[in-house]
Amino acid sequence: MSPLHVTRTLPEDATDAALRDDVRAGLTVMPKSLPPKWFYDARGSELFEQITELPEYYPTRAEREILIARSGEIAAAGGARTLVELGSGSSEKTRYLIDALTSLETYVPVDVSESALVQAGEALIAQRPGLDVHALIADFTAPLALPTTPGPRLVAFLGGTIGNLLPAERAAFLTSVRSLLAPGDGLLLGTDLVKDEGVLVRAYDDAAGVTAAFNKNVLAVVNRELGADFDPAAFDHVALWDAGREWIEMRLRSRRAQTVKVPALDLVVDFAAGEELRTEVSAKFRREGVTRELAEAGLELTHWWTDPEGRFALSLSVAR
Ligand SMILES: C[S@@+](CC[C@H](N)C(=O)[O-])C[C@H]1O[C@@H](n2cnc3c(N)ncnc32)[C@H](O)[C@@H]1O
Repeated sequence: MSPLHVTRTLPEDATDAALRDDVRAGLTVMPKSLPPKWFYDARGSELFEQITELPEYYPTRAEREILIARSGEIAAAGGARTLVELGSGSSEKTRYLIDALTSLETYVPVDVSESALVQAGEALIAQRPGLDVHALIADFTAPLALPTTPGPRLVAFLGGTIGNLLPAERAAFLTSVRSLLAPGDGLLLGTDLVKDEGVLVRAYDDAAGVTAAFNKNVLAVVNRELGADFDPAAFDHVALWDAGREWIEMRLRSRRAQTVKVPALDLVVDFAAGEELRTEVSAKFRREGVTRELAEAGLELTHWWTDPEGRFALSLSVAR
């Protein structure tokens, strides 16, 4: 059994510097916001896994259904020897793909969450002893330095995580993914689809309050890493559908006027009663938009699969 290789492409102090920059930038503007990547410490990754099992959170189940039905076709389309997965988390659904890719030699999961990478990587190595697993602790919104591995290469970006990027960030991201591919290599992209508002909002505001706990976890991360004194109980979880932009927004609404100190940044932040801090957008897609955005990045959509209820889509595109 080959050991799990874990590479940190950013030194820990760079992660720390990025958090500081994001917190300073996000809490000193109006409206306030924080990027969603800071949800995912060990606790946040664990809460996300709980979200994927909630009755209201259909995307994981829908995408799993597609992968179970279509992994054979995906494998036949490319014959990848290297699978790179961005924002891989638990890699739970990826196993269907790994099983189908009979020529696969190397799996490169990329995530900001070290705990998720190590847990998923060790489980995979135990289950697939012949597979070389090279985990990368890295931010997929920054240029990625991938290990040298055999082609063809398939990059997978599952879970609808692309929806967490704003449109301009998405365009830059897809261009940077294209630069990781040689002509003929593929991108397998999971996109949640526009649907009934009630279904969407419930998926981000579950009855058991797990998504609320996940949302507030970003405050715990800022408290621990930067010595801040956010009181998570002083904020309410909010999920709303923006019909114009076709995205869900998660926010934290201040229950009262309050002041929060962030000593590591020498920062004092005032929140008015009812003021909201945006913590995530989750864009929902249509086939035409996905096809166009891929084409603009030099990727040609060749396959589009949905679950039988048409809730979620998996697309395969090829670098030209
Ligand atoms: C919505 S979860 C999806 C997880 C998994 N792919 C799935 O489909 O269930 C997003 C994942 O991306 C990771 N992530 C979020 N922002 C990231 C970033 N900027 N760079 C690398 N990983 C990131 C998180 O740690 C988390 O594991």
